[in-house]
Amino acid sequence: MKNYFFLLLFAASTAHAAPFADGNATNGQKLFLKYECSSCHIGKLGGDGSAIFTRINRRVNSADNLIVQMEQCSGAIGKQLTMQEKLDLAAHLNQTYYHFK
Ligand code: HEC
Repeated sequence: MKNYFFLLLFAASTAHAAPFADGNATNGQKLFLKYECSSCHIGKLGGDGSAIFTRINRRVNSADNLIVQMEQCSGAIGKQLTMQEKLDLAAHLNQTYYHFK
């Protein structure tokens, strides 16, 4: 019975293990540079702009949220990200800053 419980726990945790499992974080990092994602963030917070992802009152608090926020940001510069680009960027940001499970 005990083992069965841990098996269930394992199955449940792996189901949510990686929210952007189909995204390629390495490519996401390249896209981040290509689209100059930091440009506005630097203007807002200085430094390399990454403080926008680590500030105490950051906006993004879920994997879904992250996608929505990126759509708003890319929309602001008139860029339409493909689904794959969103996944890649999200995988990169999640791996580096957010760590959503
Ligand atoms: C036109 C300017 C602009 C560009 C370009 C831009 N952003 Fe943003 N981004 C913002 C602003 C402004 C905020 C903060 C919004 C706030 O605090 O209310 C933000 C916030 C974010 C956040 C949320 C940070 C948090 O609080 O958790 C993410 C994620 C993000 N941007 C991703 C991106 C990505 C990925 C790109 C490149 C595709 C990008 N941004 C390009 C303006 C921009």
